[in-house]
Amino acid sequence: MYIAVFLLALVGVMSRATEALDNGLALKPTMGWLHWERFMCNTDCERDPNNCISERLYMQMADVMVKEGWKEAGYEYVCIDDCWPSHQRDAQGRLQADPKRFPGGIKKLADYVHSKGLKLGIYADVGKNTCAGYPGSLGYYETDAQTFADWDIDLLKFDGCYMDWTLLGKGYVNMAEALNKTGRSILYSCEWPLYEWPFQQPNYTAIRETCNHWRNFADVYDSWSSIKSILDWTASHQDIIVPSAGPGGWNDPDMLVIGNFGLSHDQQESQMALWTIMAAPLLMSNDLRDICPRSKELLQNRHIIAISQDPLGKQGYRTAKVDSFEVWERPLSKNRLAIAILNKQEIGGPRGFVIRAVPGWKICDPQCNVTQILPQYKEMGVHTPQSKMVVTVNPSGTALLTVTPISSGFKALNKVH
Ligand code: GLA
Repeated sequence: MYIAVFLLALVGVMSRATEALDNGLALKPTMGWLHWERFMCNTDCERDPNNCISERLYMQMADVMVKEGWKEAGYEYVCIDDCWPSHQRDAQGRLQADPKRFPGGIKKLADYVHSKGLKLGIYADVGKNTCAGYPGSLGYYETDAQTFADWDIDLLKFDGCYMDWTLLGKGYVNMAEALNKTGRSILYSCEWPLYEWPFQQPNYTAIRETCNHWRNFADVYDSWSSIKSILDWTASHQDIIVPSAGPGGWNDPDMLVIGNFGLSHDQQESQMALWTIMAAPLLMSNDLRDICPRSKELLQNRHIIAISQDPLGKQGYRTAKVDSFEVWERPLSKNRLAIAILNKQEIGGPRGFVIRAVPGWKICDPQCNVTQILPQYKEMGVHTPQSKMVVTVNPSGTALLTVTPISSGFKALNKVH
């Protein structure tokens, strides 16, 4: 019996390892910062030198990431999005950074970011142009992969604009091969399924073999309706997408917009909690030079980050919708469970949710230990399947809990047989 279980587990581990993109990266959801949602395609450095897409922006973010505890909390990648290049390739056909906005060039910027103990990400596109109209990589995959490797880039976000959808898969696979050929470990962030969904259900096995994470759905905006639409899409496709997530490859619901303008603090807690339940890459798009202390504390909350980075590496999913509450659960290592209770009722005040209504609460048989992480950290003590505990959740807020089963060894043994 035990041998059979062991062999099964071994086969499980081995098959997972061969399925995932084998570049040794993204064994846990990627953490970092990405410019797009907050800074978009602002190239006007004359009028807006502080916020335009320029080497200064990434250098300043890298500085703050080290000084203000972001790096220590686990945020590691500083990522450039669209609008960095010059509109023309150089005489050798290589991409080049806009010389006015990146006078030192990308290699120097990478050196700077590396000197801070951080990593640098860059952006390109599988098609003829990037979404904002800069040169795309179609016809230049090997050249561009080599350029990025020569610059010591650590992550590539590869967009899918201006590409015949029937060629998308081939394009993403070819770029993966080109990156591999450079011999440099470059984390590969794709948007392949997002661009394929309008035409057919993407092949998530192939995507997982090719990419370290992949966008499935529309761009995040700085609004609660955007966050809700991403959660709804994810829950309604969870049977298709959740099984493909695991160490080495993750579903990417897009950036964290915490610390910007559009979300209330409760909604920011909801984004943080649910992105963590979804085992999502935690790529913030905000202005770390100017962020309110509460948002900073939330983004750096070590209990939440520990759930995000849990070594089991399983994505959670929505398990119940009751009375305008949504219950989301994520299995954690050592048989623990993370539970998020989202209050979807946007009228009235805080509402109570009876915790034993959570489908996974059965792990509290015979007993479990409960810790509340959001909205406040609280040890909730030992509970049973009959627990009367009620968690109170603000409108559009989320309660986040972890549950650790306490099984007497004897009872556990009885259950195996
Ligand atoms: C697409 C992507 C975004 C961003 C922009 C840049 O919309 O989905 O994340 O990269 O392009 O133009």
